[in-house]
Amino acid sequence: MKVLQNQFTVYVFDNQSELTPEEQELLRTAADFTKYAYAPYSQFKVGAALRLDNGQIIGGANQENASFPMCICAEKAALSHFGSNYPDQKITQIAITVSSMKYALDHPVSPCGSCRQVLCEYENRQKQAIEIILQGNGGPVYKINSAKDLLPLSFDGSVL
Ligand code: THU
Repeated sequence: MKVLQNQFTVYVFDNQSELTPEEQELLRTAADFTKYAYAPYSQFKVGAALRLDNGQIIGGANQENASFPMCICAEKAALSHFGSNYPDQKITQIAITVSSMKYALDHPVSPCGSCRQVLCEYENRQKQAIEIILQGNGGPVYKINSAKDLLPLSFDGSVL
C-alpha cells in the first residue's frame, strides 16, 4: 500500500488592497457583475470576471430558473461567453465574488464542484493554469494557483 497525498496553497489576503491593481480591477468587475445576477430563488448573487491574455476582462453572473437544476452559475456563464466569443485567447485569472441579499457575507466562497470541473476543462484546453481569486461582499481574499488545485484526481478527456 502506498499513500498519495495532495497539498495545495491558498494565499490569504486581509483585503483587496494587498492585490495588484489588475487583480483589484478584476475583483471589482466580478462584484459589478453581481448586479446582473438573476437570483430570485436563492437571493445569492455571484459575479465572475475573467482576465484574458490580451488584458481584456469579461464577466458573467448566475442565472436562476424556477426549475432549480436549470440554474446557471456565474462561472459557467462567464466561461461559456468566453468559449463562444474568444477562440484565440487564453484565460489567466478568474475572480469570483458573492453576496447574499439575506445576510452580510464577508468571506470568500469557493466555486461549486460542477464549476471546478468546467474550469479544469478550460485549463486543459488552453494548457495553462487559471488563477482563482475569491472574495465575499468585501472582506478577505483567497488566491489559488490553479483550478486543478480545487479538484484533485479530476476526470479529464484523456481516458475517452
Ligand atoms: N452559484 C454560482 O453562481 N456559482 C457557484 O459556484 C455556486 C453557486 C449560484 C447558483 C445559484 O444561482 C446560487 O448560486 C445558489 O446556489
